[in-house]
Amino acid sequence: MSAPTVVPLIAGEPVHSPAPGAEWWRHAVIYQVYPRSFADGNGDGVGDLPGVTRRLDHLKQLGVDAVWLSPFYRSPQKDAGYDVSDYRDVDPLFGTLEDFDEMLAGAHQRGMRVIVDVVPNHTSDQHVWFQEALAAAPGTPERERYMFRDGRGLAGDEAPNNWQSIFGGPAWTRLAPGEDDGPLGPQWYLHLFDSSQPDLNWENPEVRTEFEDVLRFWLDKGVDGFRIDVAHGMIKAPGLPDWAGKVAMVEGTDPGAPEDGATGAGNNGPMFDQDGVHDIYRAWHQLLAGYDGDRCLVAEAWVEPLSRLANYVRADEMQQAFNFAFLTTPWNAPALRTTVNVSLAAMDEVGAPSTWVLSNHDVVRHASRLGLSAEASAGPLNGIAAHDPQPDEELGLRRARAASLLMLGLPGSAYLYQGEELGLPDHTALPSEVRQDPAFFRTEGAEAGRDGCRVPLPWSADDAGFGFGPTAATWLPQPASYARYAADQQYGVPGSTFEMYRAALEVRHAHELGQGRLAWVEAYADSTDVLAFQVNDVVVVANLGESPVALPAEAEVLVASGPLGSGDGSGVADDGVTLPLDTTVWLRAL
Ligand code: NOJ
Repeated sequence: MSAPTVVPLIAGEPVHSPAPGAEWWRHAVIYQVYPRSFADGNGDGVGDLPGVTRRLDHLKQLGVDAVWLSPFYRSPQKDAGYDVSDYRDVDPLFGTLEDFDEMLAGAHQRGMRVIVDVVPNHTSDQHVWFQEALAAAPGTPERERYMFRDGRGLAGDEAPNNWQSIFGGPAWTRLAPGEDDGPLGPQWYLHLFDSSQPDLNWENPEVRTEFEDVLRFWLDKGVDGFRIDVAHGMIKAPGLPDWAGKVAMVEGTDPGAPEDGATGAGNNGPMFDQDGVHDIYRAWHQLLAGYDGDRCLVAEAWVEPLSRLANYVRADEMQQAFNFAFLTTPWNAPALRTTVNVSLAAMDEVGAPSTWVLSNHDVVRHASRLGLSAEASAGPLNGIAAHDPQPDEELGLRRARAASLLMLGLPGSAYLYQGEELGLPDHTALPSEVRQDPAFFRTEGAEAGRDGCRVPLPWSADDAGFGFGPTAATWLPQPASYARYAADQQYGVPGSTFEMYRAALEVRHAHELGQGRLAWVEAYADSTDVLAFQVNDVVVVANLGESPVALPAEAEVLVASGPLGSGDGSGVADDGVTLPLDTTVWLRAL
């Protein structure tokens, strides 16, 4: 092999400068806790709030700025808590309101902020409002809180339109016959998700008032912000027109991100991204502004292109929006460069920070995604079954670490999903009998569903249930391989994934990378193999190609996602250092 040439790591003109504003959310690293799978306090096999409190030191040690908790509210758990029956109470499965207060105080004492989830697009069918609607006649105020319609056809027995549920099957369910039915028989109700999740009618002022009150309830308790579920879905196009497109929360990746940053991650149907939705966020912005402490709203909006997503974070709306274009960009240097550029430009346009995210509770973890072949990883993101092509676990971990280190070097705010700091892969061979995601049932198994990324975390290799709780119980089985990912196998171990994340967060903080300017390294600006950029005084170099990249011999390594090559054997003469493939390094700028 011929020696790779050392190229100077000289940055060009910055393509991004941070917007003014010193609010914490502009650069925070936010850790997603999925409560049922984080840590179990009472031994019933389901994670809970006391479990979170007990493990807060893990998060403190990791060095994150904030925690976002997925829903822990009262819920029949038909969609793992995204079907809320009481927005102002904790489900007994997860504890009590006092347990919440304790968790919040514990996080605040450790200097970490707390964001909670709000699910405003739909309630559970067990919510008192929906129960009242069922008992009421068509056209009554009780029905007006939801999206009830007469059916089509002479007998009203065809659904009001052709929309499909995101979890599969029709998006409409017809009520059982009742005394008050009109000539068209029982009405139908809309549910973009499961039939147990009826969509609310956001044209109804009563719905708006109710949610403003829910926000106040949690703000008064002291939460620092909200993650808004399906933030692009609350307003539907007038007349609910038919739409032949595929409704999907998560779609596959396209081979490359086109110039506009559209990656196939969005939805453009009449149920999504309607302009009217922004009035809601303007009102919520005002509401939060009445509280101290830079409270924030983050949009879960699968919207494209990024210029449309930027509408959600205009100065008088939300503060952040998840960047799913980044999550769905393939492991390819030009595609990632485009996504980073387009993301920063779109958010700079409105003075908002870009966010970065690689994993969450709805998608295959990036350690598994990146271990799939290019063709397989272009498929659906929401679940791998035993009969699907299986990821290469070693390759996936190596790339996941490189991808995470790349992400954490970017300016803006980064989201981590619980377990990624341990390098966790999905459980990719869950038996059908244990699956719980409604998407698995509604597609009759055609989609594996999202259970694989929701498996309870391994805390200690030698304990039953890998230390998830005080008993061996875990609501989903953990793969045997989780022993080697357990937190206690990684704390203080040089080179472990946990220690890599911890070191990266420390350097990110010390060098204020979240608030930095970004400039691409000129020599690699058009490289098909290498991504290299400078933020403040740190140069991030990621090798996505097939041969090692020579680094300047005098470069000081701050953090690396894997072992670096030395001069001998890797092709570099003298004492040079090389960056192996699928590896990212942070260097101090010369
Ligand atoms: C997005 C959430 O992240 C997902 O888990 C949930 O199923 C849907 N919204 C419906 O609430």
